[in-house]
Amino acid sequence: MSKAIYPGSFDPVTFGHLDIIGRSAKIVDELVVGVLVNSTKQPMFTIEERVEMLKHLTKDYSNVEIISFDGLLVDFAREEKADIIVRGLRAVTDFEYELQMAQTNHIMEKCVDTIFLTTSLKYSYLSSSIVKEVAWLHGDISQFVPAFVIDKIQEKIS
Ligand code: COA
Repeated sequence: MSKAIYPGSFDPVTFGHLDIIGRSAKIVDELVVGVLVNSTKQPMFTIEERVEMLKHLTKDYSNVEIISFDGLLVDFAREEKADIIVRGLRAVTDFEYELQMAQTNHIMEKCVDTIFLTTSLKYSYLSSSIVKEVAWLHGDISQFVPAFVIDKIQEKIS
């Protein structure tokens, strides 16, 4: 049985992330979306809020679970008994950093391999920071995040 981790900050989750979640959930038997407690970023949403949003938006997938983690991704993968890490590649600029991470993770934990999915073209420009910036400047973010997330962002901004 295959079990994979899709890690990220998801601050907030976007249509781009949901695209990767939906497609990878079809490939593996079990998918854990690992929500990172990232001390290097200043998040808009608490870890609990990010987990809650993801749980709501993935409730129709029977094989997807949302769990927060801190520390090393490979330790989290080991704890979850997952041997696959899923990452989305948006553009060639993502590749070098992703390659470094995949190789480092594989050296630290031989049983863990990273698979890459190309992000759908219509989301290849997207990032959570861009969504937040557009929202702060009162722009329309309905093409980037679901209505449920728009409401949560509006609550933060107002
Ligand atoms: N669609 C839309 N946006 C996407 C996307 C997609 N498919 N994939 C990534 N993004 C965006 C994210 O929203 C994020 O935007 P932001 O920087 O504005 O918040 C940006 O691209 C970067 O995303 P990502 O590379 O996933 O960074 P992250 O901080 O969300 O997650 C981890 C990085 C969790 C994979 C990595 O930091 C990690 O593994 N940390 C654990 C510590 C560790 O083990 N370190 C050693 C690694 S070798």
